[in-house]
Amino acid sequence: MIYKVGVIVGSLSKDSINRKLSRTLTKLAPESLILNEIPIGDLPLYNRDFDLDYPPAAKTFKDAVASVDALIFVTPEYNRSIPGVLKNALDWGSRPSGKNVFDTKPAGIIGTSGGAIGTALAQQHLHSILSYLNCPQLLQPEAYIQFKDGLITEEGEVTNPSTAEFLSKWLSAFEEFVGKMRRT
Ligand code: FNR
Repeated sequence: MIYKVGVIVGSLSKDSINRKLSRTLTKLAPESLILNEIPIGDLPLYNRDFDLDYPPAAKTFKDAVASVDALIFVTPEYNRSIPGVLKNALDWGSRPSGKNVFDTKPAGIIGTSGGAIGTALAQQHLHSILSYLNCPQLLQPEAYIQFKDGLITEEGEVTNPSTAEFLSKWLSAFEEFVGKMRRT
C-alpha cells in the first residue's frame, strides 16, 4: 500500500530547523510513504464566528488534511509547549463541532530543538490535544532530536549516521503503525 502523509511543521521561520528535519524525513521515508507539507502559515487566527463560513485558507487546510491517509507533526517547543501557529491550525481543523478533520487520522509526532530535552514537553502537550481530537498516535519510539549546528544540511541530509539510522527506524515504525490503523 502507498500512504499519503501530510507533514505539518509548527514553525513559520524561513530558517526553521524543524522544516529541515521534515525535509530529511521526506528523503528517508520508505517508498510506501509519500510525504508532503501541509502549510499553516496563511491561516488567520481562529475565530468561532466563522465556523459556518470558513475563510478560504482554512477550507484549503482542512481539505488538505482530509485528503491524506496520515499526518506527521514536526514541531518546535516554544516556552515548554507547542507554538501558537500550530495550536491555531489544530483549532481550525477541529471545528465546527462534529467536523473534526483529525478524527481517526493516524499521526506521528517528532521535533527538534537545541535544548537537551529536544521538544519533549511540546510533544507531550501535542499528544494531549490530539488525544482529545480522537487522533490515534504512534507512541513508541519517541523522537526528541537535539539539534546541533550542521546536523542537517539545507538539502535535508543528516550528517550524523546514528541520527539518520534512528530517523529511518522511526519512519519504519510509523509506516507499520499507519498500516495497522488503516486496516482496522
Ligand atoms: C524557543 N526555544 C525553545 N527551545 C526549547 O527547547 N524549549 C523551549 O521551551 C523553547 N522556547 C522558545 C520560545 C520561543 C518563542 C522561541 C522563538 C524559541 C528555542 C527553539 O528551540 C529554537 O528557536 C528552534 O530553532 C525553533 O525551531 P524552528 O523554528 O527553528 O523550527
